[in-house]
Amino acid sequence: MTTPDPNRVILFDTTLRDGEQSPGIALNKSEKLEIAHQLARLGVDVIEAGFPISSPGDFEAVQAIAREVRGPVIAGLARAQAPDIARAGEALRDAERPRIHTFISTSDIHIEHQMRNTRADVIEGTKAAVAHARSLVDDVEFSPMDATRADVEFTGQVIQLAIDEGATTINVPDTVGYATPDEYAEFLRGLYDAAPGLKDVVLSVHCHNDLGLAVANSLAGVQAGARQIECAVNGIGERAGNAAIEEIIMLLETRKDRLGLTTGAVTTEIARTSRLVSRLTGYVVQPNKAIIGRNAFSHESGIHQDGVLKDRSTFEIMDPAAVGIEDANQLVLGKHSGRAALKDALEKLGYRLDGQGLRQAFDKFKEIADRKKQVSAMDLEALVTDELRVDDPLAALRLVNVSVEVPADSRPPHAAVVVDVPERGEVSGSFSGDGAIDAVFRAIDAAVGIDARLREYHVDAVTEGQDALANVSVVVELGAPGAAVSSALPGVTGGDRVTGSGQGVDPDTIRASAIAYLRAVGVAARRLAVAGSALAEDEVQATP
Ligand code: KIV
Ligand code: ZN
Repeated sequence: MTTPDPNRVILFDTTLRDGEQSPGIALNKSEKLEIAHQLARLGVDVIEAGFPISSPGDFEAVQAIAREVRGPVIAGLARAQAPDIARAGEALRDAERPRIHTFISTSDIHIEHQMRNTRADVIEGTKAAVAHARSLVDDVEFSPMDATRADVEFTGQVIQLAIDEGATTINVPDTVGYATPDEYAEFLRGLYDAAPGLKDVVLSVHCHNDLGLAVANSLAGVQAGARQIECAVNGIGERAGNAAIEEIIMLLETRKDRLGLTTGAVTTEIARTSRLVSRLTGYVVQPNKAIIGRNAFSHESGIHQDGVLKDRSTFEIMDPAAVGIEDANQLVLGKHSGRAALKDALEKLGYRLDGQGLRQAFDKFKEIADRKKQVSAMDLEALVTDELRVDDPLAALRLVNVSVEVPADSRPPHAAVVVDVPERGEVSGSFSGDGAIDAVFRAIDAAVGIDARLREYHVDAVTEGQDALANVSVVVELGAPGAAVSSALPGVTGGDRVTGSGQGVDPDTIRASAIAYLRAVGVAARRLAVAGSALAEDEVQATP
């Protein structure tokens, strides 16, 4: 994809591929589709929908996105190997504008220690992979992985070969987040010299945040001539993550006076996109995160508050409404609203729900409306993304009931739960724990027959006020040494260590916690089951 405007930067979103590789994240197909539709509303140019050969689930998600999401180019990742490329081509067959993104490392560290082959193999692999991809689609992206730790001459030679074979975008990853901005820009300039064809294709940047420089390096890249930035919502991705798309968009928007670059982003969709991804991945956004953190537009000191009251420009460089923040706080429904009003309000928010989905959302809405005076756009959004979690059977551990007794004396709190387990039906468990939440989680372990380790637990209020919905995020680990993984969960044999994250939204914090915990356990269980299959085991090791 090229753009006629030389100052237009192509936004390549990799939330569903690199972002999904973050520890503990395992999105199901309907969640990935929902995120892809929202990315299209945000106005990204390219959605990297997944790594089709890595698992049957990833293949199906890429295929579904390719079939359903219109507007952006849909990309699928493939190692520079024939089976990967064929699988990516198959997953993308029905896309309006398919792209195969193939990669191979050019750094000697990776060549010697990871791939255990030679520079000659990299050259041959690149030529064959790009030619194969071009035989399937017109739009081919090539990435020399770990480029910033590679020899610039050799990387340039490989890039030129990829261009000769028909690559239309060349992406230069700072895979381990090691480069500094000046160094990265210098490297890109070196590539322009070493690969003369680079000026005729789109140069792309892909920066990891290990040293907190992902956005700074991406900026240095576009200043050196790149016109595609690869980034992810909320900056999620391998290890410390990728460049955050919201920061990239608002940086180019806010400083267009200096940079003179534009994107096709609809900035007012930023906040909603961030919340959706946070909720579905279980990755909480830090309060002081640029652009989308809870405090990004709040002023604490008296001097700042005073200034903003007089004139916002005194201490604000962006309008919160421009990133969609005020919009989401509007009241949209009242206690007596009916199903048609809910459907209409959800459509305004960009969600299409019918049949069973709408019935479930309406039941939950009524439950919330009975306990909350005002149901805001943010409540509705939380509710709908919660209902979206129609997981596959493995992940669908459903809470039937939870009760907690907290004695007034020094006895520990006692929890009792009933859980619906696929293929087993309802199981119950109880436990007296150190605190109410601990007791609930251990009662679930007892009911389901597992010994999960709790890694993270966060409670957030969806909106302000005492009647706010609780949004709980949990990360658990299954299969840790000494932690039993019961055959109670279908398909799960144990052996590996995997994490799973989950979120739950409910007016009651205890229920929200139990729902989040069950989802996290379900996700971890699904990952364990996938890791148990031979194909996935092979692919997990090779995932970039
Ligand atoms: O970080 C990386 O090198 C990648 C490549 C697959 C582009 O994610
Ligand atoms: Zn990456």
